[in-house]
Amino acid sequence: MAISIHPTGGAGAEILGVDLSKRIPKSDLIKIKVAFAEHGLIFFRDQSLSEEQHINFAKNFGPININRFFAQHSDFPEIAMVTKEPGQTGNIGGGWHTDHSYDPEPAMGSILIARELPPEGGDTWFLDMYKAYEGLPRELKSRIKDLSAVHSAKHIFGSKDQLEMLKQTRGRIGNSEAADALADVTHPIVISHPESDKQALYVNPGFTIGIKDLPPSESEKLLQELYLHAIKDENMTKFKWRLGSIAFWDNRATWHFAQNDYHGYRRVMHRITVEGCPLRRAVA
Ligand code: SIN
Repeated sequence: MAISIHPTGGAGAEILGVDLSKRIPKSDLIKIKVAFAEHGLIFFRDQSLSEEQHINFAKNFGPININRFFAQHSDFPEIAMVTKEPGQTGNIGGGWHTDHSYDPEPAMGSILIARELPPEGGDTWFLDMYKAYEGLPRELKSRIKDLSAVHSAKHIFGSKDQLEMLKQTRGRIGNSEAADALADVTHPIVISHPESDKQALYVNPGFTIGIKDLPPSESEKLLQELYLHAIKDENMTKFKWRLGSIAFWDNRATWHFAQNDYHGYRRVMHRITVEGCPLRRAVA
């Protein structure tokens, strides 16, 4: 079967007709890269990838980022374990966010594979931040075009929440010293995507802590206004996992949200993150 790309209508596109466990023909890899830049999010189904094959696939897109906050796979440090045990109540990623916006050069994206799933639930929501930007009223676009936002990891991974985090995850996530040592970073609120050149809204409820040079109340009000516009059905896809499913998202073009509705069951995902680059402000 030839490779084909099928936009979901919300966020992302599903790619059919490729077996990622085999050497991918160059022409197919180009199609995958073009679809990834265009949609910022691609899905594959019914793949059977070993850990090594997962790593090899990721290397087609850039160097691998070893996450300093997540537990690593015991044999493959390139793989971050995204696990929820039956006895846990909290999960990883259970709120809208985009990964690594707290870094000066945010990671490009992640390739997530389902390894163990609950019988029901545990879906992941994705949001298209190209569409979110496009859909903003003209007046709001002009208000944010020269602004930058401040991002931090401290309130998520830092010492303030460390005790609670450890209690919830039995030490599976969290490295408070690394988080506390991070300096806050600023990025433009509207970026030009490094590959596609499309404009994307680059703030997120998980890691954006304010808007540079605005008083806190004004900053919070503007962020909430932006989030309200972004979180719309037409910008969203709910991805229902099956064993062998893969989601590959671009942090500069999407948000994601791992639904936490399967208490009492185990869910294990393997995540490989690919390095990114500094972000450029979009020019109107
Ligand atoms: C994440 O935020 O990386 C976790 C996504 C998921 O487990 O579905």
